[in-house]
Amino acid sequence: MKAHPVPIYAYVLLPLLISCFACPFPPPCQCSFRYPNALCVGLNLTSIPKIFPTPYGGWGVNFLDNRLRHIPANAFQGIKLQTLVLSENVIETVEDQAFSGSENSITDLEIVGNKLTSLPTAFGKLQNLQALSLSKNPLRDFDQEIMKNISKLLTYIDFGSRELRQWPTGLKYLTKLSMLVITNTSFDSLPGDAFSSFKASLQYLEINNTPLKTLHYSSMNKLYHLQELKLNGNTNLTAEAINDSTKPDGLPGLVQVTFQNNGLTTLPDVFQNASQLYSITVLDEPIVSLDDNLFTSNFSSEFQSLTMNNTKLSHVPKCVSKVNSITRLQITNSNISFIGKDDFYGMMNLLTLDLSANPIWNVSDDAFRKNNALKYLHFGNTRLQDIPRSIQNLKSPKYLSLSGCPIVCSCDNLGWIKNWKTRPENFQIDGKCNNVKTDLMDYIKNEIPKCTG
Ligand SMILES: *[C@@H]1O[C@H](CO)[C@@H](O)[C@H](O)[C@H]1NC(C)=O
Ligand SMILES: *[C@@H]1O[C@H](CO)[C@@H](O)[C@H](O)[C@H]1NC(C)=O
Ligand SMILES: *[C@@H]1O[C@H](CO)[C@@H](O)[C@H](O)[C@H]1NC(C)=O
Ligand SMILES: *[C@@H]1O[C@H](CO)[C@@H](O)[C@H](O)[C@H]1NC(C)=O
Ligand SMILES: *[C@@H]1O[C@H](CO)[C@@H](O)[C@H](O)[C@H]1NC(C)=O
Ligand SMILES: *[C@@H]1O[C@H](CO)[C@@H](O)[C@H](O)[C@H]1NC(C)=O
Ligand SMILES: *[C@@H]1O[C@H](CO)[C@@H](O)[C@H](O)[C@H]1NC(C)=O
Ligand SMILES: *[C@@H]1O[C@H](CO)[C@@H](O)[C@H](O)[C@H]1NC(C)=O
Ligand SMILES: *[C@@H]1O[C@H](CO)[C@@H](O)[C@H](O)[C@H]1NC(C)=O
Ligand SMILES: *[C@@H]1O[C@H](CO)[C@@H](O)[C@H](O)[C@H]1NC(C)=O
Repeated sequence: MKAHPVPIYAYVLLPLLISCFACPFPPPCQCSFRYPNALCVGLNLTSIPKIFPTPYGGWGVNFLDNRLRHIPANAFQGIKLQTLVLSENVIETVEDQAFSGSENSITDLEIVGNKLTSLPTAFGKLQNLQALSLSKNPLRDFDQEIMKNISKLLTYIDFGSRELRQWPTGLKYLTKLSMLVITNTSFDSLPGDAFSSFKASLQYLEINNTPLKTLHYSSMNKLYHLQELKLNGNTNLTAEAINDSTKPDGLPGLVQVTFQNNGLTTLPDVFQNASQLYSITVLDEPIVSLDDNLFTSNFSSEFQSLTMNNTKLSHVPKCVSKVNSITRLQITNSNISFIGKDDFYGMMNLLTLDLSANPIWNVSDDAFRKNNALKYLHFGNTRLQDIPRSIQNLKSPKYLSLSGCPIVCSCDNLGWIKNWKTRPENFQIDGKCNNVKTDLMDYIKNEIPKCTG
């Protein structure tokens, strides 16, 4: 048979195909072409490898966790970057022309955890930057000209390290900013105009591990569009100070709020006028009580979920009891010992109740009378010795967890179940008898029918 001559298009197309679909970085870097994307993560690289030019655009390139110290001029020549991750290296210097070729295409730059002491001029050339992650660099200030240059589209920034001793005034150019994350800074107060240039655009604010004693009211109370507020590890911030900072208008746009590990003994009243508020999360705060009026004036009719874990609450707060819209209530690892008859009286829509890991030993027989929607109850790791009789007040309970509870299985204690006429057939109870080696469900099925009376 006659050998087929190699068709002419192979000489033209093949190299083109190879250059289009070859990884621009040598192994062990890896590429995927769907986005397209190059991963050179955790390789101990001390310099950016030489790039095989590619005509493909819109690259995401990730050099997370290497040993890059210096980014030279033209380091990424030959590839059009969209996202560049240089986080967790030891970068001290970035040459002015470092991003040449990609200066108009980079939208996301992450350079968290490096050794930058000032913003490199190269950043100022990124005309279309939308997101900039700068946390964990010993930056002392932000160059005003650079901030001005990147302000056109920048909507996200995170920054902070102990070296930042004053509010970086360069932020005032970021008039489009919608998400701001501040971590590990050293200043203990914010200037009154800290957020003023982006007060109309800010939707997300997160402040972590700072010695802030107050959030300045003249900046906070103008944040009409703030949807999500997260405060974590700001141990010098008191509920009163947060309260004062957000007066008199409150934060009317709030949807979600998280407080964690700030040492709060009560919650600040930042919920007034927050008519769209959906959820509140409180973790590792020594909360002892909530103001009875916390959720009264103008409280959200959209409110669905309150999650509190590891607090010092010793009862279900009164202000919570009356929230009609709430569907999920969790107060776990706290100090609640007793459930009263009115603890959930206003919660007509409550579906899930989680009170696990509280020292609860008694639940009022009259609890849950108003909770027609309640189906899932978590009382695991409490001190309950019997199944709360008040579950008979529920319309259609589906699940009750009593796992880890010292339940005493006896006719005296559980015999009432025999007379519970409306017990739904598919109602599941999780847990074990503490006095006999039996699952609660098995005991109910096999032993309770034998009880007399
Ligand atoms: C990087 O260097 C560290 C310490 O020298 C070593 O333990 C690690 O295995 C190296 N990782 C790679 C991917 O070479
Ligand atoms: C600002 O952007 C212009 C235009 O790209 C550039 O020439 C200039 O060097 C930039 N300045 C700074 C301080 O980044
Ligand atoms: C903040 O500082 C802590 C140590 O105090 C460190 O573990 C953490 O990685 C830092 N986080 C950021 C985002 O700066
Ligand atoms: C809180 O403030 C005190 C006194 O101003 C200061 O000594 C302490 O370091 C601050 N705490 C934190 C976590 O910054
Ligand atoms: C917050 O302010 C209101 C009055 O504006 C006050 O009733 C409430 O006690 C304050 N809460 C805290 C925690 O300071
Ligand atoms: C917020 O509520 C207060 C009353 O507590 C009221 O004076 C103020 O006008 C309200 N502000 C907005 C923006 O709704
Ligand atoms: C409720 O909010 C409206 C505006 O949204 C405000 O005019 C009114 O004063 C607020 N009332 C209370 C009691 O906060
Ligand atoms: C709740 O707090 C306890 C510590 O009291 C912790 O062990 C647990 O992981 C926390 N659970 C959640 C979901 O945060
Ligand atoms: C828990 O609540 C009881 C009262 O019910 C109180 O005596 C005790 O001090 C509280 N414990 C903690 C750690 O707050
Ligand atoms: C639980 O509290 C009620 C009062 O609401 C009381 O009548 C009942 O005896 C208590 N149960 C136990 C086991 O102490």
